[in-house]
Amino acid sequence: MDSIVVKGNGPLKGQIPIAGAKNACLTLMPATLLSEEPLTLTNAPRLSDIKTMSALLESLGAEVSSLQDGKVLALSSHNIDNHVADYEIVRKMRASNLVLGPMLARLGHAIVSLPGGCAIGARPMDLHIAALEAMGAEIELKEGYLHAIARGGLKGAVHELRFASVGATENTVMAATLAKGTTVLKNAAREPEIVDLVHCLRKMGAQIEGEGTSTITIQGVDRLNGATHPVVTDRIELGSYMLAPAIAGGEVELLGGRINLLAAFCEKLDAAGVSVTETEKGLMVARKGDLIHSVDVVTEVYPGFPTDLQAQMMALMCTADGTSVLEEKIFENRFMHAPELIRMGANIDVQGGVATVKGVKRLKGARVMATDLRASVSLILAGLAAEGETVVSRVYHVDRGYEHVVAKFAGIGAQIERVKE
Ligand code: UD1
Repeated sequence: MDSIVVKGNGPLKGQIPIAGAKNACLTLMPATLLSEEPLTLTNAPRLSDIKTMSALLESLGAEVSSLQDGKVLALSSHNIDNHVADYEIVRKMRASNLVLGPMLARLGHAIVSLPGGCAIGARPMDLHIAALEAMGAEIELKEGYLHAIARGGLKGAVHELRFASVGATENTVMAATLAKGTTVLKNAAREPEIVDLVHCLRKMGAQIEGEGTSTITIQGVDRLNGATHPVVTDRIELGSYMLAPAIAGGEVELLGGRINLLAAFCEKLDAAGVSVTETEKGLMVARKGDLIHSVDVVTEVYPGFPTDLQAQMMALMCTADGTSVLEEKIFENRFMHAPELIRMGANIDVQGGVATVKGVKRLKGARVMATDLRASVSLILAGLAAEGETVVSRVYHVDRGYEHVVAKFAGIGAQIERVKE
């Protein structure tokens, strides 16, 4: 298993290109199942999660070609000859559940394994199930698999999500594109990745209104056509790299970044003493002065502060001037990075969903373990600010969501390398 070794070596300078969004790509790919015609995605990120989704789609009978070194994905679901999403693939990645809605809509039935335990919380599927049942699907759990059938096809419905779940919104919107009649989804999630999905579905001929608001209306159509669509910028990769000059000093330009993708996060950075300015090519990020001020953070659904940037923000707060309180409201067990940061000298107290971080003068390099995707990058960021060497093991977590992570950090002057253990 590989590790990443990082040494704190002072201010960083340069540019980082931001990739297409993992979470958008993972919902755009299953959209291929809705049409017999080809779907081409450009600006795709090169990540192991994308390979997992490709393998899942191929197991269903879709063709997936990775072109231009993985930046372009050509998908075709002309021939879907299997309707079982197998546990062996689904257990690797929760986003596999996004094949449920499209398969049900196109084939009228689907069997999808439940993803099982996830390191950051229970992450059940009740919201997906309730929405699809409202559209006439019958869904039963048998031996760890959801068996879904829509006798006579899915029917449009008015349905309100109990919680604005990203995945449940995506599954429902995709399913509704081919349902009979109109679906009105209330309390829908508003994340930019959902807006991107709707833009792509519209190119495929879907009739959808209200993306980016909490009510999405979908008028079902008989069939969808093919399309070509560029994946939206990865706001979580963007925010993660914005924290590099914040934590280590210097000035870094994030190519392709825009403030509107991350407004709540940018406000917190501003309050912490980090300037973020839009340039022609993206975002320029630098500290305003020597000190980072402590800020309090509550994770929320979009447009609030994203849970996927909480671990990285905690790394910044570890050396802030004062005490900050970080409250996790989306996932119940998302502070596993805290004990690792404590190994680096951070002062963090976790009580349930609330972490209190008292800033220390300097972190110290240590051997630490990546516990999930975003936690892994928080440890690399902490390593940039630490005295000495930090060794982050279990790097496969990073590979799920950050392409060319070592090259990107090295490109702004960080001392970082990947080693085989
Ligand atoms: C997506 C993102 C993930 C991000 C999360 C929240 C992808 C591939 N992943 O995950 O990176 O952290 O949004 O922004 O886009 N829940 C239920 N029942 C359900 C579904 C969800 O109770 O049926 C709960 C979950 O347990 C969790 C919360 O809702 O506590 C948020 O989950 P959700 O918005 O569905 O996240 P994902 O779509 O899984």
